Amino acid sequence: MLEAINISKRFGGLVAVDRFTMQVPDNSIVGIIGPNGAGKTTIFNMLTGVYRPSEGEIRFNGRVISGFPPHQITRLGIARTFQNIRLFQGMNVLNNVRVACGFRQQYSFFDALVHLPKVWASERQIVADAEKYLDFVGLLPYKLKNPDSLPYGLQRKLEIARALMTNPSVLLLDEPAAGLNPSEVVELMNLIHKLRKMMNLSIVLIEHHMEMVMSICNYVWVINFGKTIAYGTPSEVQCNPEVLRAYMGEECNTEMEDKKISTKSSVYLPEKNPSMTFLEAKSLNVSYGKIHVLRDVSIHLDKNEIVSIIGANGAGKSTLINTLSGALPYRGTILFNGKSLPRRASKVAALGIIQVPEGRRVFPGLTVEENLIMGGFLTHNERELKASLNRVYGLFPRLHERRYQLAGTLSGGEQQMLAIGRALMSNPKVLLLDEPSLGLAPIMINEIFELILTVRSEGTTILLVEQNAHEAMRISDRTYVMQTGEIIAEGRGIDLLNDPVIRQAYLGIKENDFACIGENK
Ligand SMILES: Nc1ncnc2c1ncn2[C@@H]1O[C@H](COP(=O)(O)OP(=O)(O)OP(=O)(O)O)[C@@H](O)[C@H]1O
Ligand SMILES: [Mg+2]
Repeated sequence: MLEAINISKRFGGLVAVDRFTMQVPDNSIVGIIGPNGAGKTTIFNMLTGVYRPSEGEIRFNGRVISGFPPHQITRLGIARTFQNIRLFQGMNVLNNVRVACGFRQQYSFFDALVHLPKVWASERQIVADAEKYLDFVGLLPYKLKNPDSLPYGLQRKLEIARALMTNPSVLLLDEPAAGLNPSEVVELMNLIHKLRKMMNLSIVLIEHHMEMVMSICNYVWVINFGKTIAYGTPSEVQCNPEVLRAYMGEECNTEMEDKKISTKSSVYLPEKNPSMTFLEAKSLNVSYGKIHVLRDVSIHLDKNEIVSIIGANGAGKSTLINTLSGALPYRGTILFNGKSLPRRASKVAALGIIQVPEGRRVFPGLTVEENLIMGGFLTHNERELKASLNRVYGLFPRLHERRYQLAGTLSGGEQQMLAIGRALMSNPKVLLLDEPSLGLAPIMINEIFELILTVRSEGTTILLVEQNAHEAMRISDRTYVMQTGEIIAEGRGIDLLNDPVIRQAYLGIKENDFACIGENK
């Protein structure tokens, strides 16, 4: 059993975790939830030896392990995945998993040098194990690919396979469902159940995906500002008024889903009006080497529209956004305001077409404010820059509070706010948002979608790629559905939401999927 007993972590004056106590019984699934910046990842960092607790104790099977270095904790059987995926991009998928078994090698450096037979036997075993875990998470067909070429969801599974390779008895997963669409989330839940049952693991899960947490966890801890505000079984915590207020930003209400954002939506423009077309892509084709990723994709954005693109991981959505922002070479035509779009990212950005990339990509070694200033490169003078900074700080008070903190040390959700804030610094004409809700707590997701509506009302045209398809479609004027590099449907969000085929394929969940999984416990 893994136990944290009154552990705290302070960063200067900030108490990120405040006397946190938790037990992870053998063969259980325990969830940790809480708003962005609540201290969840910091708890994982203490459990895995990345940070030494400022006070308190961590025990594993009765032994005190607080203060042990990460490699020793891994050897004892505690493995983790990271909130911001950390894979070795220079190695293929198989080697990313193989690399995690260094300490199980049965031979010395000298043995390897003289090619003793036991070296080959040990290596064969390691490759067989790596393939077994890749197969377990469904990634064996990708074993020779570079992780960079895999969609986000598969990269997350690769991190799980790499963690399994260390032969853990406790697996810590930091937001494994981030970036997955609803059907993929259901798949992930099945995988987590399989892991617990077949590998006899305990799993600690940090997640913002409430249905997932509530349907697969045996116990849930809820933290806010580093402190535990509730813990217990999912049914005990899910209607706790403090949890609902702090985390969901809601009262206890089963119709919560439908209340969100409502149809505040927009001026829907039913017919394409050529005089309004602002950004238009015609017959775009993009390939990565031999793989043809975008196939004759044509989309248009009218001035001041919010257009969303939905589709499974790997459908080509991010590739489309990256192409529109000038980051990728393509065949086809892109027109902006009737003129050909330059084929260089810096020139596209200079026209006011600004991207919020998937996975944040903040500059980790710069402070929050320096990151924002980098985003203000289109502003003309100090006064304008100051005004933009104040506007962004007004939208995200947390960023103002942390303006001198290094961006690399922000929590995942705080980094997401920074990436969006940075893009808003130059008052973009077109904002290309790649999964803005990724890694955000439910209370913050509502705010981000409201913010998108505000930004549009100030005159920005928005293209939105989202796995959170329900919410995206609700605030969009139009939605395109992508499948394996092609646009297969286009329409008003509301109409697509009611289309049974689209509902099942892209909004995932048949009515009782989550319920069934809950019963597996
Ligand atoms: N090395 C550090 N230096 C200073 N502050 C830090 C450091 N690491 C984390 N923090 C701060 O501690 C707080 C808790 O961060 P943590 O990453 O644990 O949050 P979280 O609950 O995982 O949030 P999210 O859901 O957004 O990922 C945040 O406000 C973060 O900015
Ligand atoms: Mg975190």
